[in-house]
Amino acid sequence: MSIQQENIKKLVDRRAAAKLGGGRKRIDAQHQKGKYTARERLAMLLDEGSFEEYDMFVQHRCTNFDMEKQRFDGDGVVTGQGTIDGRLVYVYAQDFTVSGGSLSKTMSEKICKVMDMAVRNGAPCIGLNDSGGARIQEGIDALAGYGEIFERNILGSGVVPQISGIFGPCAGGAVYSPALTDFIVMVKNTSYMFLTGPGVVKSVLGEDVSQEELGGASVHASKSGVAHFAAENEEDGIRIIKELLSYIPQNNMEDAPVVPTRDPVSRVDDALNEIIPDNPNQPYDMYAVIRSIVDDGKFFEIHGNFAKNVIVGFAHMNGRSVGIVANQPKVLAGVLDINASRKAARFVRFCDAFNIPLVTLVDVPGFLPGTQQEYGAVITNGAKLLYAYGEATVPKVTVTLRKSYGGSHIVMSCKQLRGDLNYAWPSAEIAVMGAEGAVSVLYSKEIKAVEDPAERQRIQAEKKAEYDELFSNPYQAAQKGYIDDVIEPRNTRFRVIRALEQLAGKKQSLPAKKHDNLPL
Ligand code: HXC
Repeated sequence: MSIQQENIKKLVDRRAAAKLGGGRKRIDAQHQKGKYTARERLAMLLDEGSFEEYDMFVQHRCTNFDMEKQRFDGDGVVTGQGTIDGRLVYVYAQDFTVSGGSLSKTMSEKICKVMDMAVRNGAPCIGLNDSGGARIQEGIDALAGYGEIFERNILGSGVVPQISGIFGPCAGGAVYSPALTDFIVMVKNTSYMFLTGPGVVKSVLGEDVSQEELGGASVHASKSGVAHFAAENEEDGIRIIKELLSYIPQNNMEDAPVVPTRDPVSRVDDALNEIIPDNPNQPYDMYAVIRSIVDDGKFFEIHGNFAKNVIVGFAHMNGRSVGIVANQPKVLAGVLDINASRKAARFVRFCDAFNIPLVTLVDVPGFLPGTQQEYGAVITNGAKLLYAYGEATVPKVTVTLRKSYGGSHIVMSCKQLRGDLNYAWPSAEIAVMGAEGAVSVLYSKEIKAVEDPAERQRIQAEKKAEYDELFSNPYQAAQKGYIDDVIEPRNTRFRVIRALEQLAGKKQSLPAKKHDNLPL
């Protein structure tokens, strides 16, 4: 064998050893927990043969606690680039088989390298987390490593999409890197995120709580809203990440990919002319409206189990990506509350940062009243959504289906928040408040003074009818130009698409400033 051949063999052998991470035994242990290894995950995520790995031979530099005896090529993370559906992405996947994927300084350098490349080359960065947190033996170096990563999450935010998969433990300050990214996908039963684990909770608060109850996928996808998706298993988590990417651009200078459709732009849906119930207090399903107007009835929902009174997600309209924000009359009558406002605000800001037009479907009776909401700062949280819509410069098309009352009318992408085209169905009611509330405020003394209950009812009904005539329709708003047109519900798809095509070249900017001070 020539020297060159020997060198090549050494390289092949070393690569093969590096690919085993912490060794066969630990790989088996990982499988026994129902988890895939970092490399298996990347193989599922990326197009076949597209993965190019970096820093495969990087080793940690720690000598504390005999760590020099525990050196593995690549250390506890696999990093590199590849493609998903032919589009470039940068990736890192923590390798739990090496020191439990715990973060060393060299691991952070590997991760930061791909994060920097993602920003420089304008491609999404996807991190698959499965780690015991800061590598204890490295002390402050490990913390510094996290700091380096967080800073890059921040600087890259709004420049390239950042997606976090949580495929195992993610504890302590380590949760803040995912929290700084745009989307978090957790896997049910095998992943968890919390600042302090069940042991600390028990000792500080005396509460008994399992890892799953404290920070499992279902908890974060439905209660806290920290996670956007709770995947059934790792395969499902990978599928979600890939599908998500198909709706979003590579970076903030590009548009999302166009997905050609055979669904006619001019398709009308007569069912929409029948969907609004006669009784204004009766709900209907906003998903039916969304599916009716988007291409092929396909809607990719974000945060589907959290704050269900508002619906957000992506779809295509005539092949172009849109972000849909819609009140859901079936849940809490579609009222806006703290969580719904946070959820929608974050989504609106993502769409605005990444050039995805917003289509807003309005049926909102107002903000949820009560001490719980007020103490929880519904004012500040509602203002987030107001702010997000008001600052967004992407095309904004709004359709008011039914109720649009008071502050919530303004918040939901009204004309004065630089809404581009605002349509209303004939069933729209655009007013300061609903008829009953208004009558009780305006005529309470007059009505109370009437002793005969039948007469009282008659006056109430008369005043309500007067108010309805004036306000419980879209024409007041349309007469003043606050609504651009009143449209037949069945034509909504066509009208929204035509609006979006018209707005495709929209250019709008914000006043020069260092940065805004949105109500956090
Ligand atoms: C070094 C670690 C480690 C860590 C795990 N390992 N966590 N090594 N530093 N933080 C090692 C274990 O020693 C073991 O090594 C291997 O990884 C697998 O761990 P196991 O405990 O056997 O696995 P499992 O039973 O699945 O439990 C996983 C775990 C547990 C729940 C993550 O390991 C654990 O609780 N780790 C500590 C978590 C933690 O408190 N981290 C610090 C959080 S604070 P061998 O050699 O046996 O395979 C933090 C600060 C970040 O992260 C601050 C950012 C600002």
